[in-house]
Amino acid sequence: MALIVIKNWDNKNWLSSRQYINSLNNFILKQTRLNSFSNILDIGCGRGKIIGNLKSRLNLKKKPIGIDLVNHKDKDTRIQFKKIDALPFFSKNKVKFDLILIKQTIHLLSIKKIKKLISNCKKNLNLNGVILIFSLDPYKNEIPSFALMKKKLNKSLQRDKKIAKILLKYLPITNLKRFVYTVKIQKNKYIEMIKGRFISNLISMNEKDINNGIQEIKARYKKKLKFNDNLVCFIYKKGKI
Ligand SMILES: C[S@@+](CC[C@H](N)C(=O)[O-])C[C@H]1O[C@@H](n2cnc3c(N)ncnc32)[C@H](O)[C@@H]1O
Repeated sequence: MALIVIKNWDNKNWLSSRQYINSLNNFILKQTRLNSFSNILDIGCGRGKIIGNLKSRLNLKKKPIGIDLVNHKDKDTRIQFKKIDALPFFSKNKVKFDLILIKQTIHLLSIKKIKKLISNCKKNLNLNGVILIFSLDPYKNEIPSFALMKKKLNKSLQRDKKIAKILLKYLPITNLKRFVYTVKIQKNKYIEMIKGRFISNLISMNEKDINNGIQEIKARYKKKLKFNDNLVCFIYKKGKI
């Protein structure tokens, strides 16, 4: 599987907004029993704002570790960032974690890598540790799209269903929950996100596809967009198995 470089995912949009991060972290804190001594790892952390916010909220003694293939200049300073692929990270790692977070990243890996990653996550988890894996809800997607984007998204959501089966088999998941966030965004701002190819399905498109898509979005949607960003969260609690 070719490496996909995503640079504009959480670049000044709802995914990096204080409201979104707070709401997501409220959800995360409900699923875990974290305290100021907890060790946290975020695989595919992007700009690291989610775990940066957890550092402040929990008054963590140790900076949470965030790993990613892209080293953003404007990443969160409250995290310990490592520019490394998820699998080689574990071959050197000696720390056990209380939370391993993989949010909207697992679909970017090959099935072989996913299986290895799951096994590494389990081995590197503390006794009462939790693994949280967030993905787009494959049965309920409302992301505003143009036709080609929708086609690619649907293909990727079909693959997500296959990944879900693997997670349920190999982890095994103790619980499955939904995280829903209502997004309100100006159409122009959303078009900027499409131009920046914020989502992996847009990366492989050429300029013409993107420009045609933007015209479709302009024609199809009102000035203000309102939709639900629907995620599923696979929850694995080590002590429960
Ligand atoms: C869709 S973004 C999600 C970012 C962040 N988790 C969030 O939800 O805001 C996926 C991230 O995974 C990173 N990524 C993709 N493959 C990776 C790999 N093999 N190892 C580490 N990070 C990876 C990408 O660079 C990107 O920042």
